[in-house]
Order: sequence, then C-alpha cells, then structure tokens
Amino acid sequence: MTIMEMFLGCMLTKRKDMVGKMTEQELHSLLEEMTLEEKVNQMQQLIGAFLTDEGVVTGPMQEMGLTEERAALAGSVLGTHGAAKLKKMQREFMEKHPHRIPLLFMLDVINGFRTIFPIPLGQGASFEPELSERCAAVAAKESAVSGVHVTFAPMVDLVRDARWGRVMESTGEDPYMNSLFSAAMVKGFQGEDIKEPYRVAACVKHFGGYGAPTAGRDYNTVELSEHTLREFYLPSYKAGIDAGAAMVMTAFNTLGGIPCSGNKWLMRDVLRGEMEFDGVLISDWAAIEEMIYHGYCADRKEAALRAAEAGVDIDMMTGIYSEHLCGLVREGKIPEKLVDEAAARILDLKNRLGLFENPYKDADEKAEAEIILCKEHRELAREAARKSFVLLKNEDALPLKKEGKTAYIGPYVDNRHMMGAWSIIGESKDVTTLQEAVGEYDGSGQAVFCAGSPMVGDDVKLEGFAGSEAQETPVQDAGRMLEEAVGMAKSADTVVMAIGEHYLQSGEASSQANIQVPEVQMELFRKICEVNENVVVVLFSGRPLDIREISEKAKAVLHVWMPGTEGARAIVDVLYGDYNPTGKLPMSFPYCVGQVPVHYNEYATGRPYMPGKNKDRFRSKYLDIPNAPLYPFGYGLSYTSFSVSPVMLDKECMTREENIQAEVKVKNTGARRGTETVQFYIHDVAASVVRPVKELKGFCKVTLEPGEEQTVRFTIDDSKLRFLTENGRQESEAGEFEAFVGTDSATVNCAKFQLV
Ligand code: NOJ
Repeated sequence: MTIMEMFLGCMLTKRKDMVGKMTEQELHSLLEEMTLEEKVNQMQQLIGAFLTDEGVVTGPMQEMGLTEERAALAGSVLGTHGAAKLKKMQREFMEKHPHRIPLLFMLDVINGFRTIFPIPLGQGASFEPELSERCAAVAAKESAVSGVHVTFAPMVDLVRDARWGRVMESTGEDPYMNSLFSAAMVKGFQGEDIKEPYRVAACVKHFGGYGAPTAGRDYNTVELSEHTLREFYLPSYKAGIDAGAAMVMTAFNTLGGIPCSGNKWLMRDVLRGEMEFDGVLISDWAAIEEMIYHGYCADRKEAALRAAEAGVDIDMMTGIYSEHLCGLVREGKIPEKLVDEAAARILDLKNRLGLFENPYKDADEKAEAEIILCKEHRELAREAARKSFVLLKNEDALPLKKEGKTAYIGPYVDNRHMMGAWSIIGESKDVTTLQEAVGEYDGSGQAVFCAGSPMVGDDVKLEGFAGSEAQETPVQDAGRMLEEAVGMAKSADTVVMAIGEHYLQSGEASSQANIQVPEVQMELFRKICEVNENVVVVLFSGRPLDIREISEKAKAVLHVWMPGTEGARAIVDVLYGDYNPTGKLPMSFPYCVGQVPVHYNEYATGRPYMPGKNKDRFRSKYLDIPNAPLYPFGYGLSYTSFSVSPVMLDKECMTREENIQAEVKVKNTGARRGTETVQFYIHDVAASVVRPVKELKGFCKVTLEPGEEQTVRFTIDDSKLRFLTENGRQESEAGEFEAFVGTDSATVNCAKFQLV
C-alpha cells in the first residue's frame, strides 16, 4: 500500500457516511493516475477571470508566474457567482481537464449572499446563535443556487480592539459566545451533510489570532502569549472545527514571530494534531507570498516550501505553489507525500460536496430567480436586524409617540448603504431606506426628513474594495443642508437622528485611530441638540465607537450596527415600539479610544482600582478617564425594566462529580412585555494561573409580561470551572469561586461557593 493509499484510506474510512458517488477505490485510482503537476494544480486557487475569456489573463498571469495551461487547470476559483456563468465555466473547464475533475467555487458569503443580514457583530448582539444558524442556512441556500460551493465564513476571530476594522466580521470579545456562534454558523452553512441540496462548505477563519493585531492596525503583528492564545483565541476555531467545518483559512499575521501560513507548530501540531482538523487548509489571499515581506522567507521558492511544510493545501492567488512545488519535490526538498495529502484533501472535499456526481451541485437559474431575496428570506433579515439592535440609553424618549411631529435628520435617513463592507453580492437597490420605511408605517405625512449633512467630510478617507475611492455624495452645500435641518428640528416635537460611520469605515483594511462618528455629522448633532431637547439617535457603525458626547446629549440611543437589507423596517419596528429591544453588546463600547483594547474578561492586577473604595495613588487606573468602558459587554436596555433577585445556590460546596444550581428570580418591573438576557458568569478567586475577573458561562433569554416573575437556573458543574492550568491541562482547581448572575457583565450580584 502506498503512503497515499494509507492516508486516503484512513481519511475516507473516517468519513464513510459522507462519501459521495465516488468510491474510495475510485478516488485512490484517480490520485494514482494524476501527474505531480496535476496534483499541484489542485492546490492553486485563482479568481474567475483567469478561467474565462474576460480578458485579464495575460498581465496578471505573468505577474503570478503562471502559464496559461496551469492557470486553466487550477483546482478552485474564488469570487465568482451566478448559476449560468458558473455552469458554463464548470462545463468548459471539465471538457479540457484530463481527468474531468470539477472546480470548487468559493466566495465570501459573510452576513448573507444577496439577502443581507446584520453584520456578524450585530448578530453577536442577538445573543442567539440559533438565529445566526438560520441566517447562515439562508445565505447558503442563496449561494448554492447561484453555483457557489464554499463560503469563506465564519470569521471567528476574537476581538478586543475597536480600532481594527474587521471587528464587524466577528461576534465579539467573549470566547464562550464566539464558540457558540462559530458552531452555529458552520451548522447553518453546512447542515448535516454538505452534499445535501442548498448547503455550502464553511471555512473557519483566520487561523489564528488574526483578531489581535498590534494597535488595531490590520495585518499587523500579533503578540499573544501561548496561554492567552489558548485561553481566549483558540476556542472559537475549535468549536467550528468540532461542528464539522470543511475548511480553515490561515491568518495574514505572524504569531510568535512566524507567519501563520508557514507556522508548522500552529498548523501541524495545534490545528491538525490537537484539534484533529482533517479538512482543507487554505491560505488567505496571497498570504504565502507575504511571508517574504514579513521577512520570514527569502523568496517565492522558500515561501512554497514553508507553506507546504506547514500543510497549507490551497494557495489563494499567488501562483507560488504552481511555480515551485513540483521543482521542490523533484529536488527532494519536500516529499511528494505532502502534495499527495493536500491533493487528496481537496479531492475529498469535492467528493463530499458530490461534485464528481454533479459538478454543478445546486446551480440553477430558475431557483436563483425564485429563492434569492424571497419574502421568507427578507422576513428573517428583518427579525435578525431587530434582534441585533442595542438600546444604549433611553430617558423615556422611546418608543416614539404616534402623535406629535417627528423630524428624521441625518445622512442615514435616505441611504441604502447599510449592509456593511463585506456584503459583496448584496445590492443597495434591494435595501429600503429609513424614510421609505417610516412612510410605509406612518402614512399620516406628519414626519419630515432631511440629510442635514454629508456622510463624511474631507477629513475622512474611504477606500472601496477595488482600491478605488468610494463613491460618496460630494460635500456640496453643507451650510444649506444644516440650515434646512435646524429649521426642521425647531418645529419638531422629536428629532430622530440617523447618523454614524460610513459603511466603508469598518471592514478589511479599514482600521481607524479615531473611532467616532464623522465630525461633519457631530457638528450637525450639536446644532440639532441646541434647538431641540428631544433627540433620539439611531446609530450605525461596524464597530464600537466613542460616543460619550452623543450619550450625554441625546435622550435615547439605539445602536443598529450595519443592519442589512431589512434594517430600516426593523428600525421602524423598534422606534415605534412594535418590537421591544433585546440586543446586548457583544463587545464593550470604550469610554474613549485611549482605553482600547478594553474587554470585560480581563485579569485583575496586583493593585486593583475600586472607585470609592480605595483612594491610594498607586493603583491601576488612568488619571483622566475611568477604567470601565462606557457600556460593557452584555449591556442593553429594554422598553420595560427587570429586577434580578440575589443569587441563591442550592449548596455552597461541591465535588467534581457534583453540581450546584444557581438560581435567581427575574421580574418584569415595567409596563410592557419584554425579553431579558440573563447572564451567568464565573470567577475563580485564586488559581495556579490567574483567572479573568469574570467569564461568561451561560445565558438565558426570558420573555415576561408586566409584573411576571420567572425563576432562572444555571447549573454549575466541573466543566464550567475548568481552565488551562499551570500543568497545561484543562482542569478545575479546588478552592473558592464566585457565581454572578445579572443583566450585563458589570453585575455585582454574586454568591460564593467552594470546589472541594
Ligand atoms: C482576504 C480576507 O482576509 C479573507 O477573509 C477573505 O476570505 C479573502 N480575502 C478572500 O476574499
């Protein structure tokens, strides 16, 4: 038996249930028949333009060191969609391919395909992973009928620094929550079996630690201790892998000084070894080549060697594998086995998707017309948007009274760009504006609307996806716009200001040193507040912002992220009280940018600062700002109010075999039906490795009528007390613990117990 047979045999035996039409034997034979070049071609991924007659072929191909023949026989394509187009591309490709091996079509389907859901950070605010599973399933369906086989999602990177533009693609700062969302999204995309209709393969990214770039600058060095990496950053990747993710993507960054795409320890020991990932590992875009610019590889040949040694199966968009892998094998620098293993994994994925049986999978023009943006999908988008909104402040200004005159002012009033920077297939023409949505809801004609200011001034730099300057309304006649808005505000009972970041201010390569609403809109906000005291802010952004001034002056603040296709209708549902807000922050909103990275699950210091309790000078604090964020993780208000009773434990001591029930009574103390997310945190008081001041270990959404009370219980068992101890094992340690139950991470409602 050859090494390849042994490898493939073992891989396919593990997945017997998932093997498509192609039998184990047929796959073996196919690999045996393939030349080294053909196997390496499987490891090459290109954009669609290389394989069509769209004309870009010669220039870029030469730059990438690809021959026309090799480009034409690549194993996968990214960034293309459309049933008719992909079917044609697949047909023509397979006709030319010596073994008729189908292409894999991959695309970034992040928060939806064409029906756009709230950005992932907004989905995190729902505290409802099952909702994200449903959104991912819809995104998978729309992608699948459009010919896509694999999505580059979910991004499960843990985030703490709001300067990093990609926080919008994450579900936040908590490893427990991120893990739940990671698994849910993988399940949503893949279902039980990726071969089933309307399913696509998921790709967990970016392995690893991409969410911690130094100073929040995208692609920057990541400096994490192995302990911190394992404790906070790795769990969400592991959860996605355990949920069956077919693919993992490498991160751009270095980790411990070694770029992830060439990091053998990370990829071989941790990913393949400890996490037992046996799917396809793809590089991020040109990340193999970037190992040269990191200063890790002298040239393209060394980059090919390092990436192959680390076990990267697919090279996204460089041509380095095509250029060098065969030579490296022939020179004896890498064993052919590495290429065989990679090709086998890629063929296995194609087989699991059923592509040898039906290379078009679900691509279907008729289904595309019927399914994409259908009513049911739009309804889910509206539900998801409503559940993502976080009410940060409300001094009785919301819900809006139906009588009285409301002025809607701000650049988001008549704007369709609320899908977030990663919604590459979403079209703004499908999005309802806030003005239209208010019109649909309230036909009285009482409401008035104006922009009041441009979205951004000349001080804000925007870059579109293709590197081109983003299309933006010119700063024309800002004075006249302001005047009109002030006039409207003066004669209105309430002003709803729809303001926030431009959608291109967050996203890849959109780091910001200042995280505020653009100054031109802040000038408008200040002027409006001078003439009307009833200002409600509907705030759009892809990241937590410094909103101190807004929070001080506005009567109410509703944070709506980038809410997607049905975002505006969902905003109206909440503004007028048809939906009572339920969202909770998945990431702390800093007091100001100087505080970041700020997150609730920090470690205590040897000199903790407790305002009002200790006044010593030499404490861990800032002289000019508080330590606490403006709004902490887990925070979010409702139109009603809730009380939570003190935490009651059924016993104060447990062994590892026992458990303790922590119980609170939650009561709706307001006048409306509402939903509260009751959160359960643990603190291990003294341990061999210091523990976070609080760690989320569970949560529960309860819906209560006015005056209604419900008992909420959380079970504390050994699994909730384990951590990576000084022995390098996941285990609990005997001693004192605190169990907190409350409505956000700042809760002090706690009871103590012992593990003996
Ligand atoms: C680069 C991004 O980092 C990654 O998330 C994305 O999937 C690829 N480009 C492909 O578009």
